[in-house]
Amino acid sequence: MEQIQEAIQRRAADIEEIIRAYLPAETGYQRTVLEAMNYSILAGGKRLRPMLMQETYKMFGGSGREVEPLMAAIEMIHTYSLVHDDLPAMDNDEYRRGRKTTHTVYGEAMGILAGDGLLNLAWETAMQAFPMGEQGETAHMQRIAGAVAVLARKAGVYGMIGGQTADIQAEEAEQVSMEQLLFIHEHKTAALIQAAMMAGAILAGANEQQIRQMERCAYNIGIAFQIQDDILDVTGTMEELGKPIGSDEKNHKQTYVTIRGVEASAREVERLSREAMEILSSVEEDSGFLRELTAFLIHRRK
Ligand code: IPE
Ligand code: IPE
Ligand code: MG
Ligand code: MG
Ligand code: MG
Repeated sequence: MEQIQEAIQRRAADIEEIIRAYLPAETGYQRTVLEAMNYSILAGGKRLRPMLMQETYKMFGGSGREVEPLMAAIEMIHTYSLVHDDLPAMDNDEYRRGRKTTHTVYGEAMGILAGDGLLNLAWETAMQAFPMGEQGETAHMQRIAGAVAVLARKAGVYGMIGGQTADIQAEEAEQVSMEQLLFIHEHKTAALIQAAMMAGAILAGANEQQIRQMERCAYNIGIAFQIQDDILDVTGTMEELGKPIGSDEKNHKQTYVTIRGVEASAREVERLSREAMEILSSVEEDSGFLRELTAFLIHRRK
């Protein structure tokens, strides 16, 4: 356990450097929005999505640096989703990553604009992968284009934004079915985890079947991750999480925990994670770190 925790921390520190390299200088008349963007993305966070992307890339034999702009891009998209998720019109939360939320510090308009800014910067950043590909190699360019396309799809209305839409609308529902809840979890959370692992696989030149396996694996990791997030909203502490507990109840959100209870939810996290680990084992390449990371996430407290 200790070893994997250290290994995770080491990777997160490396990822921090990669992200920083793509962040904007805080100058010009638009300085405030640039500050707000940096404020939210530099507040820390587990950096799970870039980590999954990089490790999947390595697992399939990737060794170039063109994964780096895409790692920064997915963390920008994830961070924008959090900045908007915390807005008064959405979950209306005051703390995130151990700090006051972006809109609380910079005002609601800047919270909206900082999210928009991060989303656009993500695409500008992702595009920087192209000149890093082997020059003139069409196959390599196609991989980069494929990875960017997956990221776009999974972040959009058929992915994360679609899930956030269903999540917000479900607040008004008398009852939320398991099918509805799984739709929400799959889209608002698993989609970006899928984008991370699929993009890593695509960039490394994995074949179609391997890419599908990663999609399935990341589905399990993503649903487990969101169920654990729902559990921690009830059983965690603000100090551990860096964000308020009880946010779901406050917003009348029905979650795995409200429908099934904490214990059954925890068993589901375990089951889904084991399934993900089995898929990883069945993939030919060395999947040691990703399996350990998945196992570690089962009992995460933040
Ligand atoms: C929070 O994501 C939002 C969910 C999808 C549950 P993380 O738990 O990965 O948040 P950070 O990036 O570590 O802050
Ligand atoms: C949010 O789910 C998922 C996103 C796409 C941002 P939650 O609303 O449960 O995430 P937290 O608990 O605020 O991090
Ligand atoms: Mg939310
Ligand atoms: Mg929220
Ligand atoms: Mg939550």
